[in-house]
Amino acid sequence: MTKPIFDIGQICELDKWETFINGQPFDTFKRLRKEAPIYWHEESLEFEPGFWALTKHEDIIKVSKDPLTFSSAVGGHLMTMGDPEVVDPAAVAAIIGNMIGMDPPDHQIYRKMVAPSFTPKAIRSLEDDMRLKVRELLDNVSDKGEFNFVTEISEQLPLWVLCEMMGIEDSQRPRIRDLVNNLTDASINADPDKSMQVWFNYMELFKMGRDMIEERRKNPTDDLMSVVANTKVEGGELPPELLDGFFLLMVIAGNETTRNTITGGLMALTENPEERDKLIKDPSLIANATDEMLRWVTSVIYFRRTATKDTQIRGQDIKKGDKVVMWYGSANRDEDVFEDGHLFQVDRPNAKKHLAFGAGEHLCLGNRLGHMQIRILFEELLQRYPNMHSTSDPVRVPSNFLAGISELKVTI
Ligand code: HEM
Repeated sequence: MTKPIFDIGQICELDKWETFINGQPFDTFKRLRKEAPIYWHEESLEFEPGFWALTKHEDIIKVSKDPLTFSSAVGGHLMTMGDPEVVDPAAVAAIIGNMIGMDPPDHQIYRKMVAPSFTPKAIRSLEDDMRLKVRELLDNVSDKGEFNFVTEISEQLPLWVLCEMMGIEDSQRPRIRDLVNNLTDASINADPDKSMQVWFNYMELFKMGRDMIEERRKNPTDDLMSVVANTKVEGGELPPELLDGFFLLMVIAGNETTRNTITGGLMALTENPEERDKLIKDPSLIANATDEMLRWVTSVIYFRRTATKDTQIRGQDIKKGDKVVMWYGSANRDEDVFEDGHLFQVDRPNAKKHLAFGAGEHLCLGNRLGHMQIRILFEELLQRYPNMHSTSDPVRVPSNFLAGISELKVTI
């Protein structure tokens, strides 16, 4: 590691989930943007020396658009994959073996394979059914007093959409939800006594995916799993670890992110009643308000890259092999782009500039789908229950990667 030009000492433990348990450390991010926009963060793990923390909107876009210098494949897209002496390489291959952990040209081959399911036309075709599902979910809570918004509403919609797209049977949906919940809880993942449980959870998910693939190869259908099962790359079927990786990516990326943005969106409306009123008076603001929710919540906290050669960012030397971590929550409050970024404003003129979906090569493939779910949910919710609001603080999922909320009590 070369000496950082912005050296302000160790100010906060961004590598620990405990730092995020009351929400993202926005004050620390603000200080970093001002005093050390390319900040060397030491790590508490013996096998990982540290990472460069990127907190500026502009730098995160540059890095995301240069996948050959800042790789997702070398070292993966998570801050750590665990101790290389201990972790099974086959497990790592399955966990990161999907398009999010690839660089060009492989990345484009795999992205193109599933892209037709995510075109604007394909997404629009889901809108009517999605609206009916939202209405059903809202009907189900009509006579409830106080209830958990996460279990009744926000986790239900993305799970339903994803399972419909992928062709996952009704009977398997609750189990998928529980497995995904366990795998995104960092306190479970970091507990050595629970390492076998985590491993079994992965195995169970992979088995569900493999069973579906086998079935779709025998009896092709028109769902996304059938597309993947029957795609040939270079004349052959996809290798099993890629199929595992694809299934895992979809069930985590498609579920958690949208769910947490919806929950955070309701918190934003509760904390800002004047913004809710604006939206009720002028429903045409809903698409912009959706982007503002995505920005304000930033449900994916970071993704990582690894430098493939000696390079520089903002004049700071970055050595080949250095880890670079992009803090999206910070970019989304960067004062160079967003005025008073800590405020939630449904009519913010440039809300769309948020980086909640990342940028560049790996820009979220599900961005239109995620946006549409959030938009339809709040369109319907505000018509039906204009006063629905939270009555308690959120219970957060321990993680420095996904801004998860497992409970938010609300009343209509
Ligand atoms: C609010 C909702 C969502 C948020 C905040 C979100 C966030 C992100 C981010 C930040 C990335 C960039 C990864 C990187 O640069 O390494 C990403 C990639 C991805 N997301 Fe999403 N996502 C959301 C919804 C979805 C949905 C609904 C799906 C699918 C059903 C999905 C599927 C994917 C996939 C497949 C990638 C990888 C794309 C690639 O590697 O080319 N996401 N997402």
